[in-house]
Amino acid sequence: MSTADQANTTELPGTPTIPQVDQHAVKPNAPVVGKVHATYLCTASRKAAGFVRHIEIDVSGTELENAWHAGQSFGVIPPGTQSSGKPHKLRLYSIAAPTGGETGDGTIITTTVKRVVDEHWDTHKLLNGVCSNYLCDLNVGDEVLLTGPVGKRFLLPENPADHDYIFIATGTGIAPFRSMILDLIKLGMPSRIAMMMGAPYESDLLYDDTIRGWASEYDQFTYHTAVSRHLTPSQSKKLYVQDRLSEDFDQLGPMLASKRTLIYVCGIAGMELGVFQTLARLLPPDQLAQYLSLAPEIAGDIDNWERRMIPKKIKKTKRVFLEVY
Ligand code: A2P
Repeated sequence: MSTADQANTTELPGTPTIPQVDQHAVKPNAPVVGKVHATYLCTASRKAAGFVRHIEIDVSGTELENAWHAGQSFGVIPPGTQSSGKPHKLRLYSIAAPTGGETGDGTIITTTVKRVVDEHWDTHKLLNGVCSNYLCDLNVGDEVLLTGPVGKRFLLPENPADHDYIFIATGTGIAPFRSMILDLIKLGMPSRIAMMMGAPYESDLLYDDTIRGWASEYDQFTYHTAVSRHLTPSQSKKLYVQDRLSEDFDQLGPMLASKRTLIYVCGIAGMELGVFQTLARLLPPDQLAQYLSLAPEIAGDIDNWERRMIPKKIKKTKRVFLEVY
């Protein structure tokens, strides 16, 4: 990092310290065997456009037990081989369980998996995602090869209570936020949290009942949904999660202005540009500087920003955390 970059980030008020966490307790060449402990659809309705499952895996007695932190991922090695004859490669899945797992004793790790179903672009033959469908097909008691954990940046800060959080997710990007919010609940919910969630239809909102429950239980927790494909007659364009930032700015503005606030973004690749553009439109320069540092030549031309300008011309500060895929 250049000296100029360091000056941009480390001196910023409210810059969090990210804890040093261990990775790779289980390496890909020696995976451990976990056993499916529970599996259920976690969409708001069975009639959702996509099939998304909450999958809990028992890792007791393995090196993965108690080995992860909220925000990290674990690896899954699906059985079988690729068309080349080589074994399938490992896939990473975001951990949805809190640190300490679903039962608090480090034994139950969780993820949130969407079945990938597509057509081949050329042959138009059905293409099923190898690992997502393998995981979603598993039943309670089935064994699965696991590795990890992986990830040392997309984490809660060292002192979580020193900060407030705007969590912005689309689809299964909710997984690490379920994990982090459960950690914050264990700490007695010491922070303000705005959970922003984007989904194609109401039926595809994930963990919706649970999140609504948090919003009614904790005054300092708000839930903001953006349903993209349900256009009302007065709407001319899709409502994305970043548009919800603008629509609910009365509520979110004071949080964004605060030096305590950290922004975490997780989900569909491309959303980061929309989120950054929206922040740039909404915030005065001194507040925007808490989250983004902009090359002078693009600062006034927000509508023409492009994704390739990240991170050279649109650089996030250490108060923004990004995981898109
Ligand atoms: P849409 O697909 O209607 O354009 P899922 O993972 O369940 O498919 O949900 C992803 C959500 O993110 C959908 O509502 C999708 O809208 C939305 N989305 C797609 N592109 C972007 C983007 N660039 N910024 C924010 N949200 C997006």
